[in-house]
Amino acid sequence: MRVVLSDPLLPDVVDEYRDRLDIVVAPDGEALRRELAHAVGLVVTLSVKVDDELLACGPGLRVVGNFAVGVDNIDLEACRRRGIAVVNTPDVLTRSTAECALLLLLACARRLPEGERMCRADAFGGWEPRMLLGRELLGLKAVLVGRGRIGQATARLFEAVGLDVDFITRADDDGAVQKKLGAADVVSLHVPLTSSTRHWLNAERLSWLKPDAIVINTARGPVVDEQALIEVLERGALGGAGLDVFEEEPRIPARLRALDRVVLLPHLGSATRTARAGMARKAVGGVAAVLAGEPPDNRVV
Ligand code: 8YV
Repeated sequence: MRVVLSDPLLPDVVDEYRDRLDIVVAPDGEALRRELAHAVGLVVTLSVKVDDELLACGPGLRVVGNFAVGVDNIDLEACRRRGIAVVNTPDVLTRSTAECALLLLLACARRLPEGERMCRADAFGGWEPRMLLGRELLGLKAVLVGRGRIGQATARLFEAVGLDVDFITRADDDGAVQKKLGAADVVSLHVPLTSSTRHWLNAERLSWLKPDAIVINTARGPVVDEQALIEVLERGALGGAGLDVFEEEPRIPARLRALDRVVLLPHLGSATRTARAGMARKAVGGVAAVLAGEPPDNRVV
């Protein structure tokens, strides 16, 4: 059973499946298309767009495994139409992503990048009572957008360090959203990217935030209107932003990179050995299960 991987992932974990699957790794997009002609399974990372055109290269394709929990890179409708199953990687990256949200929050609140840059530039001129004053998290009000697995795990971590946590969910109407955002010291995003969450945090909703509020995004870049976020930060109308994801990855706008009060990470939410090994098992193992006619616990389509 030929399964094509768009990336070697974690090779030692992938090797666990070689007794059941005939696994090949495609070194580039062209090879991926070529290999698909003989494949029954495909495993991709989020940088591969799985659309109708790619699926057409694999007439025998039965299952796609996404090495991510977010499936916005996959045309699920096209998979459904073609009878192709889709599996993803829930649960195994929940803790890692929640820890990343806490990391970004602490780094923003305590102005970690500014202090770090000062040291690296050899510009620490001696202890000073008013230098780089930040905020304590104890008693701050955090509003988490999305109450899924990662939202709930982040809430537990935020509560553990003394934040008071509330959620915004689909059940909240515009009035409730405005009220919750207006009361927030911290807004952290934990929704998948869909047509209804694209630019959810837009210029209007950003204008409802307190001028010292901190925005954290470990979800997907396009959930925030990046231009609008840059504008409020440039105007000094927001306390800061901790961003692990960007609208057009891997491009990070120069105006965003020029801002002091932002903490930027290159999409590291699930970047722990534990999470990535679990993701490889869920993605490749889920594909193996579907091909063996067993029901995987991580099936999306
Ligand atoms: C990345 C993620 O996809 O799971 C997700 O949705 O955003 C991350 O885990 C992963 O790091 C790269 O494929």
